[in-house]
Amino acid sequence: MSKLQLNKSWKYADALESTDHIRLKEKYDLFINGAFVKPNSKKYFDTINPATDEVIAKIAEANKKDIDLAVKSARIAFKSWSKLPAKERAKYIFRIARMIQERAKEFAVIESMDGGKPIRESINVDIPLAANHFFYYAGWADKLEYAFPNKIPKPLGVAGQIIPWNFPLLMAAWKIAPAIACGNTVVLKPAETTSLTALKLAEIIQESGLPKGVVNIVTGAGNTGAELVNHPDIDKIAFTGSTNVGKLIQKCISGTKKKSTLELGGKGANIIFEDAAIDQAVEGIINAIFFNQGHVCCAGSRLFVQESVAKDVIEKLKDRMSSLIVGNPLDKNTDIGAINSKEQLATINKYIKIGKKEGGEIYQSKCSISKKGNWCPPTLFLNVSQSHAIVQEEIFGPVLAIQTFRTIDEVIEKANNTPFGLSAGVWTEKGSKIFKLTQELNAGVVWANTYNKFDPASPFGGFKESGFGREGGLHGLKAYLKFE
Ligand code: NAI
Ligand code: MG
Repeated sequence: MSKLQLNKSWKYADALESTDHIRLKEKYDLFINGAFVKPNSKKYFDTINPATDEVIAKIAEANKKDIDLAVKSARIAFKSWSKLPAKERAKYIFRIARMIQERAKEFAVIESMDGGKPIRESINVDIPLAANHFFYYAGWADKLEYAFPNKIPKPLGVAGQIIPWNFPLLMAAWKIAPAIACGNTVVLKPAETTSLTALKLAEIIQESGLPKGVVNIVTGAGNTGAELVNHPDIDKIAFTGSTNVGKLIQKCISGTKKKSTLELGGKGANIIFEDAAIDQAVEGIINAIFFNQGHVCCAGSRLFVQESVAKDVIEKLKDRMSSLIVGNPLDKNTDIGAINSKEQLATINKYIKIGKKEGGEIYQSKCSISKKGNWCPPTLFLNVSQSHAIVQEEIFGPVLAIQTFRTIDEVIEKANNTPFGLSAGVWTEKGSKIFKLTQELNAGVVWANTYNKFDPASPFGGFKESGFGREGGLHGLKAYLKFE
């Protein structure tokens, strides 16, 4: 079989996305009650470009007092926002969607600079999907009684929302759009390594004329998040992040009236049957684990290949991995960008070490990696079993654990043998197998002959330690409403 020789026979010319058009301030304050205000803490922290180690901007750190101001402003705004005719609410949300679209390029470049993801993904996935979430929920705002017939839907009040660093703008959109469409007001806290696009969104929100206090954006790390969780005047906490912090939040709010949705970790099973279209499946494996450097809660990080095709699939997979370009996130050729932070890189490297120590056979594609920044080559492990840490635990990086199986029942058993239950993928020509697996896999999302496909109309969320509650679609409205 002749193999791809992309990295050897010819090289891609650089195709750098321009950064001339982006506007960034040196210092970002908190967005409270429609204005950018200095933090009471008087503290700022750096946000860093993970591909160059350069400081991009300074970000305000919100303390207890700042959180209190933000929650108060959201509470006051709730009075009038929840009473505004729903079609008026929709107009603002629609306007925000349009403004994101108009500035999509700028958002995409900033997202890639701040978080390390390839510009191709920011441009094609993150930013358009974020705009689509606002469009989608703008459409629902005045149709809530049709969404829930024979019920009278009412907003919950003030939502505290905490998001992770892997899809910064998109997660902000997932949280803000349904909440305000239902008539709630929000205080959102972005992740500390990737606050910039949420703060750019704050600029758009300000320009859009959205009434003051409906959306407040407060920056900071875990302590700031904890202050938000523990504020007594919050009606609902919506959290996306690690299972550990999710558990902590649940403890903090138990015994209070606060409602919650938790979207936590995952260890998605991607299952390839012998009758699958193998070349497409190999592309699917690549997309499932290497999309966004593997910093994806629903990543297909456990691969199950039917034994009869395993040799072929693994050979093709290694071949395809060697053609992946690891490098500058702002280069349009780049497939795998920078690892989001030094901390996350250390976590990934820790797991790679454990994988080797436990007897896994490692394969990493060769790539030239810059001295500055945080990088990890695409990695796979063979010879691993269910008990291995790299098969059980969420790594959140470009590391794939491969196992084989013989029968459908065996693979269902293995796929479900995890504390998580967020996502899975199935590759087969047979519809009957797809139906059996979608019924029996304990996962919130099961993709068939595709992976990592997202749509605002489609609900997303997990079982078991992957959390509870759904975001997206009609289900996503329910999480922000109560019924009388
Ligand atoms: P994290 O769960 O600490 O961070 C997520 C968000 O929660 C951030 O905004 C953070 O500031 C906030 N936060 C942290 N501690 C908090 C607290 N006590 N109260 C309220 N908010 C708090 O995740 P981290 O440390 O960035 O990543 C660690 C691991 O978590 C990763 O290696 C990965 O395995 C997993 N993770 C999973 C995500 C997912 O979507 N499934 C997203 C991010 C991380
Ligand atoms: Mg950063």
